[in-house]
Amino acid sequence: QLTGDEQAFQQRIDEGIRIEPKDWMPEPYRKTLIRQISQHAHSEIVGMLPEGNWITRAPTLKRKAILLAKVQDEAGHGLYLYSAAETLGVSRDELVGDLHSGKAKYSSIFNYPTLTWADIGMIGWLVDGSAIINQIPLCRCSYGPYARAMVRVCKEESFHQRQGYDLLIQMCLHGTQAQKDMCQEALNRWWWPALMMFGPSDADSPNSAQSMQWRIKLFSNDELRQKMVDQTVPQAEYLGLKVPDPDLKWNKDQGHYDFGEIDWDEFYAVIKGNGPCNRERLAARVNAHKEGQWVREAFSAYANKHESEQAV
Ligand code: 3HC
Repeated sequence: QLTGDEQAFQQRIDEGIRIEPKDWMPEPYRKTLIRQISQHAHSEIVGMLPEGNWITRAPTLKRKAILLAKVQDEAGHGLYLYSAAETLGVSRDELVGDLHSGKAKYSSIFNYPTLTWADIGMIGWLVDGSAIINQIPLCRCSYGPYARAMVRVCKEESFHQRQGYDLLIQMCLHGTQAQKDMCQEALNRWWWPALMMFGPSDADSPNSAQSMQWRIKLFSNDELRQKMVDQTVPQAEYLGLKVPDPDLKWNKDQGHYDFGEIDWDEFYAVIKGNGPCNRERLAARVNAHKEGQWVREAFSAYANKHESEQAV
């Protein structure tokens, strides 16, 4: 039974009125936003690692510059999202501590290795492609700071997706057979993990019902996953690549592709910390944070000195 405040709150949500940091909100609404926004931010920051691996090994200066710009964007997305989470009354240190202790999640997709240059194309095309599909609706979610952060993020994501697909066009349509084979081998590794990004099936999604009622989630996990498959299969065909799913078939009655079953054991193993690169990714994050300690100390020393001078 909702209290008066909760009824008034739900009515604002139903009328599409944005909730702002100083507005009254039910504690569970605040908590689920902190959970989702902070994990989204962690995903952006950890997401820099797989691609960072290839900045020094990009095949041309142009590709190096593009990849540098993209990885730098991801850092910015992370900072944007940590700031949006801080409007809900949590500190950056607390959020980062939860990531480093393993308490907080980040997107499963970043626990896979980037073995060849074609992986960089796959990440742009499939991972950022999925991220766009997931993030466009978030531009209209009920929490103001999150929705506004998403507008800027989505603009940059389209560059990320475009550069990845352009890289694959280069290799598949204007490259050697060996380069095309490299892309097919990469697609075989990245296709299913990219579909897992959208989360468990709707029937197994504990947060969806409440998040949809609060208009944090505007479309279900399966709806967005289906949109990703429908949009991406023709793009794979254009590249002359074969999607690694024997059950993939256009269903003309439905106007969608039917596709095979996701390996949910793999999904849950990865989000439990047992994916191919989980330990490496977390160790890299913990290490980077430790190495950055002196910068944080210098900033606060400067701020304190500045403050004491002003106080005089
Ligand atoms: N990886 C890791 N954990 C996942 C996951 C995934 N792919 N999908 C779901 N989960 C977790 C959820 O966080 C939840 O665990 P929690 O309660 O401890 O947080 C649990 O599995 C059950 O999932 P639900 O569907 O019930 O959870 P949500 O309603 O939160 O839906 C979500 C999951 C769709 C990922 C939603 O949180 C969301 O839309 N988040 C914002 C977008 C986001 O985080 N995207 C990640 C990729 S960011 C990215 O790719 C950046 C790009 O620039 C490369």
